[in-house]
Amino acid sequence: MKALVYQKFGPPENLVISDLARPEACSHEVLVRVAYAGVNSVDWKIGAGRIDHYRNAPFPLVTGRDFSGTVVEVGSHVRNFSVGDAVIGCLPGPGGSFAEYVATDALSLARAPSNLTLAEAASIPLVGLTCWQALVGSAKLSKGEVLYVLSGAGGTGSIAVQLGAALGAKVITTCSERNRDYVTGLGANYIFDYSKPNFTDDLIAEFPQGVDVVFSNVLGPLHRDAYRTLRPGGILVTIGESPLPAVAEKHGVDEIDLIVQPNGKQLTEIVTYLENGTIKPPSVSIHALVHGAHAMQNISEGHVRGKIVLQVS
Ligand SMILES: NC(=O)c1ccc[n+]([C@@H]2O[C@H](COP(=O)([O-])OP(=O)(O)OC[C@H]3O[C@@H](n4cnc5c(N)ncnc54)[C@H](OP(=O)(O)O)[C@@H]3O)[C@@H](O)[C@H]2O)c1
Repeated sequence: MKALVYQKFGPPENLVISDLARPEACSHEVLVRVAYAGVNSVDWKIGAGRIDHYRNAPFPLVTGRDFSGTVVEVGSHVRNFSVGDAVIGCLPGPGGSFAEYVATDALSLARAPSNLTLAEAASIPLVGLTCWQALVGSAKLSKGEVLYVLSGAGGTGSIAVQLGAALGAKVITTCSERNRDYVTGLGANYIFDYSKPNFTDDLIAEFPQGVDVVFSNVLGPLHRDAYRTLRPGGILVTIGESPLPAVAEKHGVDEIDLIVQPNGKQLTEIVTYLENGTIKPPSVSIHALVHGAHAMQNISEGHVRGKIVLQVS
C-alpha cells in the first residue's frame, strides 16, 4: 500500500511516498481503507523525534493520527461495525493514517457524521477528542461558566470554542486580526488580538472576578500568563505546554496536563453534536498525500486556520 513515511527522524522535507505491506486486522480490530487523514501538530513533532515517548518507534515510520474511510474487513470478535461502513477514528501514537489502510481497535471508531464530507470528517477525531476530554471530562465545564480558550482559530481552538458555547459557557479567545471573523463565526463571545502587548490585562479588566476554566492550547508566554486570568479554584487544562505547579499554587488554581486518548464512545457523542449542527467542522483545506511534506511544514509553522487533511485514496 502507498504510505507517506519517514526513514529517519527529521523535518517534514524528509517525508517520502513509499510502498508498505498492508496491515492485518486481528480479532478485535477492523481494517479501514483511508479516504482522508487529518494533519495535527503532533504528527510533525513525532516525525522530528521531539516526543520522547516515540523516540524508539521503528522505521519506516508512518505518522498521522486521524482518518476517515470505509471498513473493508472486520475481525472475528467485532460486532459494532460491518464491511462498507463509513467511519472516523483517532489512532494511538505514533499513528499510521498517512497510508492507504489502517488496522485499529473497533472500540476506538465512530460512524462518520452523515452530514459531512469524508474530508471534513477526517478533521475531527484528535481535536474533537482532545476538547471533549479537556472540557467535559477534566474541567466539567458547565452552563454559565466562563471559558478562556487561548487560541481560537487552529485545530483544537475551532472545536474548543464551539464546544464551550454548546455547553452553555461564555467563551473568550484570542486570534490574529485576519482570523477575527472566523472565530466570531465559531461562537466566541470575547476576542482579543494576541499580538497586542498587555492584552491579558484588558481581559482581566473585563473579567475581574476571574474565568472558571482555561483551555491552554498555545506554547510560549500566553500559557504562563493565563494562570492569572483564573478565579481562585479555577481549572487550567493544558494540552501544549508543561504544567507550572508553582504558578498554579501562587494563583490558587488547579491544573491538569492532558494527553488525548482514542475513545469511540466519546467520538460518537461528538458525531451527534456534528449531526445536529451544534458543532461545525473546522475550516478544512485538502492536500494530496504526495504533498504531505508541504502540509506538515505548514502545520509546523503554527498559523493554519482550522485544519489540513490529506487525500489518501
Ligand atoms: N496533549 C494533547 O493530547 C494534544 C492534543 C492536540 C493538540 N495538542 C497540542 O496543542 C497545541 C495546539 O494544537 P492545534 O491542533 O490547535 O494547533 P494548530 O492548529 O497548529 O494551531 C494553529 C493556530 O494557533 C494560532 N496561534 C499561533 N501562535 C499563537 C499565539 N502565540 N497565540 C495565540 N494563537 C496562536 C494560530 O492563529 P493565527 O493564525 O491567528 O496566528 C493558528 O490558528 C499544539 O502544540 C499541539 O501539539 C496536544
